[in-house]
Amino acid sequence: MISNENIIKRINKLKTERNAVILAHNYQIGEIQDIADYTGDSLGLSIEASKTDADVIVFCGVHFMAETASIICPDKVVLIPDDNAGCPMANMIKPRQLRELKNQHPGAKVVSYVNTTAAIKAESDICCTSANAVKIVNSIPEDVPVIFVPDKSLGSYVANQCGRDMILWGGYCPTHHRILAKDILQTKEEHPDAVVMVHPECTTDVVEMADQVLSTAGMRRYARESSNEEFIVGTEIGLLHSLNKENPDKKFYPASVLADCPNMKLNSLEKVLWSLEDMVYQVKVDEDIRVKAFNSIEKMLELS
Ligand code: 13P
Ligand code: SF4
Repeated sequence: MISNENIIKRINKLKTERNAVILAHNYQIGEIQDIADYTGDSLGLSIEASKTDADVIVFCGVHFMAETASIICPDKVVLIPDDNAGCPMANMIKPRQLRELKNQHPGAKVVSYVNTTAAIKAESDICCTSANAVKIVNSIPEDVPVIFVPDKSLGSYVANQCGRDMILWGGYCPTHHRILAKDILQTKEEHPDAVVMVHPECTTDVVEMADQVLSTAGMRRYARESSNEEFIVGTEIGLLHSLNKENPDKKFYPASVLADCPNMKLNSLEKVLWSLEDMVYQVKVDEDIRVKAFNSIEKMLELS
């Protein structure tokens, strides 16, 4: 078995040879976050992909994220280390279902969460992430109905923040829905001074118990800048790695250790190495879908 140290050396050598960059989502295992050129939330990763001058992007995250990078950078080779790393929420709505919804609500604008396939983005007016969803919905005139897909939890939170009704789809994140209100209550009882930070993919009752509702990058920023010393973290547990690393003097408690996304955890250091060795698994989108999907992402990036 080769050591992590050797794997990392070989990854770095190949990265230089191939002019590659490694982008990693905040939920990746610590070893991957540590070798990445950039770690961040879905919005930050899209922005980073749009800025890089590398020829190859190794995207350590789930499939829709690598696909988004490929939509933004069609001339680059975008690799995902494990081809099975999909997001179940992204597969909870099919283009046919979205078309039916649009037919039922003519005149409505479609806002799709970035956790969707390229085909759904192609059917949407504008994309959003957890970091900018409220801003994106607020950019749509109040008298225009909004269809929000696929995350019902994020959609409910945004509707509430924007003070408007929205047409919601019933998708959800199985990982965030494992965090229960009783978990927050119990952790709060154990750590009464801790600030409760919660991701808007959590269920509404959990979101209502939060002091701060934030994207993963928002949580990192808030923890760094806050004068508080203890935090309850209501999101996927991979985020604890960067929170602990960036704030060695602060304490972070997971709301639930069950919030562990099995799809995000499919990537490993070895797979990153094999990905660069064999240039696999390439993520590419058909040009007609890509152009339409790009429009919805571009509109989001302009507003961000
Ligand atoms: P953000 O990192 O954009 O907050 O998204 C969370 C998520 O669940 C991505 O799959
Ligand atoms: Fe999808 Fe949830 Fe995993 Fe994010 S945490 S990739 S939304 S299943």
